[in-house]
Parts: sequence; structure tokens; C-alpha cells
Amino acid sequence: MISGAPASGKGTQCELIEKKYGLVHIAAGDLLRAEIAAGTENGKRAKEYMEKGMLVPDEIVVMMVKERLLQPDAQENGWLLDGYPRSLSQATALEDLGIRPDLFILLDVSEEVLIERVVGRRLDPVTGKIYHLKYSPPENEEIAGRLTQRFDDTEEKVKLRLKTHHQNVEAVLSIYKDVIFKVNGDAPIEDVFAEIDKALSSILEKKSRTASSS
Ligand code: AP5
Repeated sequence: MISGAPASGKGTQCELIEKKYGLVHIAAGDLLRAEIAAGTENGKRAKEYMEKGMLVPDEIVVMMVKERLLQPDAQENGWLLDGYPRSLSQATALEDLGIRPDLFILLDVSEEVLIERVVGRRLDPVTGKIYHLKYSPPENEEIAGRLTQRFDDTEEKVKLRLKTHHQNVEAVLSIYKDVIFKVNGDAPIEDVFAEIDKALSSILEKKSRTASSS
């Protein structure tokens, strides 16, 4: 699992983790945006909450994430949950299903940095890649010309999202305290990944040692 404030770098690190470890990346925010794009009833309701920076109600999110987690690709290759669980009730719903992570990565980023990251973030609708106008600019003019911005990526909205994050994060951390791995997310993208990579490799090593000794 990977957690952190809005724009702390969860999606960016997930791209790198997915590429190296082949885990199935399941991002609650992406699943919700797909519902909005498809114009479903759940999508319409979700958007009202997302525009206010609030958590989308459990009756929409819990089932949506659970169904995705239980699909064969995630069960066979392992999963990487991004932005979920975000509240005690969501964490408890996973515990009730016996679903626990090997590692709970917490990206720790200072608030001024978060605002700048949100305002400069852009997305490539063709590849899904995340860019930043200053920190991770597009490779060429063609990509630059097609970049889009998320509807909740304004300074005003990120402050609301941040408030929601602060209200819920401690309760979620309390469930995963034995597997939390806190990383300084203020560092450059490659340095953050190097830390995460070390932690994930060591888990894999331990797992393969246990498997070969049994
Ligand atoms: P969600 O889509 O999950 O948004 P978020 O948590 O606010 O996180 P972001 O996606 O904004 O940021 P990120 O941490 O992935 O950062 P990124 O890598 O893009 O949720 C949106 C909404 O959906 C919520 O507000 C809520 O309403 C709803 N929702 C979602 N999950 C829910 C749940 N479980 N329950 C209920 N409701 C839910 O990076 C940001 C920028 O910074 C990029 O431009 C990137 O290039 C740059 N960057 C990243 N890392 C670095 C670095 N190390 N140095 C410099 N720049 C960097």
C-alpha cells in the first residue's frame, strides 16, 4: 500500500514500482475518475465529493476497490494499492476480508511543496503518464500540446483535500503500524524510489528465504 497527502508522489512512485515489480497498480482516485468519465451514477455522485475535497462515501468506494483487488491479475501478480484505505472504515473492511499489505509506504512531504506540485501537475491522456511543468516536464512539444489538468488540481481544492487527509490519516496508520515504512517524499523522484526499492527488495528476499526453507 502507498499513502501520503495529495500530490505527495504516490502515482509517480507507483509507475516506477509497477514497472520494476510487475504489481497491479490499483488507485482509488483513478477508479473513481474512470466512473466519472463513463458517466455512471456512482461517477456523478463521486464527483460531487471530489470537487469538495471530501472522501467519496464507502458504499461507492469499498465495493469498487474490493472487486478490483479480487480480479485474477491482482491475485496472481500481487497488488499495489494507491490512496486506499483512506479511513478507518475502509481499513477495517479490508481487515475483515483478511487483506493486509506486506508494506505500508508513507510518503512524507512538506505542505508548501504539495501546493506547488498540485498546481504544476499535468497528465498525458494518451499514456496516462504524470508530468510536472517544472520537476518532470514533457519530453517533446507533441506531448506538451496534449497534456491535461485534473479538475481538483487547484490551490483552493488541494487545501480541502489536505484537510481531509489530516482528519483520517492517523486512524489508518494505527491499523498498519507494524508494516509502516516512512519515506522522505521531498527528495527527488529517483531518490524516493531508491528508498522504496530497497524496502521492497528486502521483503522479496525474506519471502524467498522463507519459501525455500519450508
Ligand atoms: P487521488 O486521485 O488519490 O488524489 P490524491 O490523494 O489527492 O493524490 P494525487 O493523485 O493528487 O497525488 P499523488 O500523491 O499521486 O502525486 P503524483 O505522483 O501525481 O484522490 C482524488 C479524490 O478522490 C480524493 O480527494 C477523494 O475525493 C477521492 N478518493 C480517492 N481515494 C478515495 C478513497 N479511498 N476513499 C474515498 N474517496 C477517495 O505527484 C504530484 C505532482 O508532483 C506530479 O506533477 C509529479 O510529477 C510531481 N512529483 C511527484 N514526486 C515528485 C518529487 N519527488 N519531486 C518533484 N516532483 C514530484
